[in-house]
Amino acid sequence: MAISQHGAVRWWNRLAKPAVFLLCLVPAAWLIYAAFANALGPNPAEALIRSTGDWTLRLLCATLAITPLRTVLHKPSLARFRRMLGLFTFFYGVLHFICYSFFDMEWVWADLAADIIKRPFILVGTATLLLMLPLALTSSNRAIKALGGARWQKLHRLVYATAVLALLHFFWMRAGKNDFAEVAVYAAVVACLLGWRVQRARHKRRLQA
Ligand code: HEM
Repeated sequence: MAISQHGAVRWWNRLAKPAVFLLCLVPAAWLIYAAFANALGPNPAEALIRSTGDWTLRLLCATLAITPLRTVLHKPSLARFRRMLGLFTFFYGVLHFICYSFFDMEWVWADLAADIIKRPFILVGTATLLLMLPLALTSSNRAIKALGGARWQKLHRLVYATAVLALLHFFWMRAGKNDFAEVAVYAAVVACLLGWRVQRARHKRRLQA
């Protein structure tokens, strides 16, 4: 029994990362399949833009959930998924941007720039993606070494700003449709994930005082 449990743990340790990697690719694979199979509904372009936006936000929440989960569940090994989830967040953000630029703007850069200026929710979406860029570019071990742990950590606090801006983008987009139900769910999730960090920082400060 002890041996089989040990074996299962070894298998889990070996397979968990590739499994999560494949899982993160499932939405993109499904969208590509559905696009070719004509299964995206009456407005495929809108479905692609919206689904990729949804998955960017979901993966951002999943990335932010790693630290609270590993602390609350006493599972420090969960940290190994954080970088991958963060990079997949950026990947879906870029896909979302490509879908919008291609289907809504037909790759006309002047139209794209004009739309970014004209529609505040697009401006906020663009700011969110731009803020994610330095995080994605400095996600490697080499970048952590080059920046030094403290500076790297400071830079990566930008992820909290991306969560707030992503929510604002979603809120603003749905405000035009007077539809806030889903936004409220994501807002509650992000509030819990960021609120937990604020509480923990306060607790640490109290212990140090
Ligand atoms: C990386 C950060 C971003 C996140 C997390 C994000 C998230 C989202 C979400 C959740 C939606 C709503 C999907 C739904 O209704 O189910 C959405 C819609 C949309 N986003 Fe983003 N977005 C981001 C960046 C961008 C960028 C950079 C652009 C364009 C420059 C953009 C343009 C749009 C458009 C055009 C829609 C659909 C609007 C509509 O159908 O009326 N987003 N986004």
